[in-house]
Amino acid sequence: MSEIDLLEKQKEYTELLRDILPLRYSAEHPKAFVHTYGCQQNVADSEKIKGMLEQAGCELTEEKEEADIILFNTCAVREHAEDRVFGNVGALKALKRKKPSLLIALCGCMMEQEHIAEKIYKSFPYVSLVFGTHVIHRFPELLYNAVTGSKRLIERGSDDGRVYEGLPVHRDGSFKGWLPIMYGCDNFCTYCIVPHVRGRERSRQPEMVIDEARNMIASGYKEITLLGQNVNSYGKGLETKTSFPELLRRVAEIEGDFWISFMTSHPKDASKELIDVIADNPKISPHLHLPFQSGSDRILRLMNRHYDIEKYMEIVDYAKKRIKDLALTSDVIVGFPGETEEDFQQTLELIRRVEFTSLFTFIYSPRQGTPAAKMPDPYTHEDKARRMGELLRLQESISARRTASMVGRQYRVLIEEQAREGILNARTHGGIVVEVPGSPELIGSFMTAEVTEAGNFILRGRLV
Ligand code: SAH
Ligand code: SF4
Ligand code: F3S
Repeated sequence: MSEIDLLEKQKEYTELLRDILPLRYSAEHPKAFVHTYGCQQNVADSEKIKGMLEQAGCELTEEKEEADIILFNTCAVREHAEDRVFGNVGALKALKRKKPSLLIALCGCMMEQEHIAEKIYKSFPYVSLVFGTHVIHRFPELLYNAVTGSKRLIERGSDDGRVYEGLPVHRDGSFKGWLPIMYGCDNFCTYCIVPHVRGRERSRQPEMVIDEARNMIASGYKEITLLGQNVNSYGKGLETKTSFPELLRRVAEIEGDFWISFMTSHPKDASKELIDVIADNPKISPHLHLPFQSGSDRILRLMNRHYDIEKYMEIVDYAKKRIKDLALTSDVIVGFPGETEEDFQQTLELIRRVEFTSLFTFIYSPRQGTPAAKMPDPYTHEDKARRMGELLRLQESISARRTASMVGRQYRVLIEEQAREGILNARTHGGIVVEVPGSPELIGSFMTAEVTEAGNFILRGRLV
């Protein structure tokens, strides 16, 4: 079936749902609660699911207690993420007992792992619908079958390599929005489950991306983040070959006052052309999220990352030279199987050399079915936790120095939210948060802030 026919069929299911959901839940607009775990890719998927729920006549709610339909969109990237889902699904039992008509559904990356889907099916008999990342576009049909059928439904489908355009989207934010430019991942880093649960890498047509960006800007979005597991390999397999720097430049050419960010950049594919495009386009955030994972070439090889520290530093040095007020962030894994004290010291050395703005730090978590899970790992969790502590202390001192150097300077900021009564969170173009006094009407607008004080983690300032 073509993509268009498939989506037409889903529209028919949506119409059917509009008729039967009010009867089943005795409410004109049954309430749906959607909770998202994991990365922005999942957030973007949830925004589509919410769009489909709304089209089916549901009203979205933030309170699970009042929901008729509860859906968790899950993440499988680390054990901790999975444990939270198991715990929270367990806690739904009481709600289901109180309200037997409640429909509980689980989707997302965890559900693409057979052993997990089976465990859920066995352990939580009150979950009636389980579906994976490859069948999200068929959500209306799945929901219809779950509501009308008597049997529980597990639908995992397989990666068909297609991109489904034209799904409705309910965006969570009104001035900051996510825009997926590609799906899946082909890199198979040896520790990572993502390629196993998200399928092969495929890019959206550049025109689709640009149209969506244009629509978002026209409806008032001030910051658009382009999403992909490795945006730097965007465009592979497209008929009209478009590189990521080219796409970025074309989005930046759209008229209007807005910022563009993107994530994530894999260092193996980060080019000088990308850095040049960022440096030359004031609308593109001077922010590079460039995960290095480890400072040891030996570990990088075991991770199948396809770059070494020399190549990483080459791109970092070029970016620092070219991009004014560059914010550089990264992901790092501590305790990859067999990581020695010496390997770890090389990670610290890299952190000292680069002086990242901030770091996302993870203790290695074995993922069933990945090559690293079978590698010998003589170090204990205590060893790894101690290393993590040392790394965090180092980064803290670097961050403190960085934020201190911002005091006295003025920055253009986007006012994002209220931190507390009378205080707003303003974010710089490089993604750094400054607390400023101000009233909530300013949320969603660009302002200028002067940084007056640097605390341990927070910058304070005032609007100019
Ligand atoms: N595609 C992105 C990362 C997606 S996952 C990239 O390649 O940069 C986000 C981060 O989670 C990774 O960068 C990595 O640091 C971390 N991560 C992934 N798998 C992990 C695992 N098994 N254990 C610990 N951290 C992991
Ligand atoms: Fe995982 Fe590597 Fe793909 Fe990132 S690039 S999603 S870390 S396999
Ligand atoms: Fe998690 Fe899936 Fe993202 S595993 S990190 S939600 S792609």
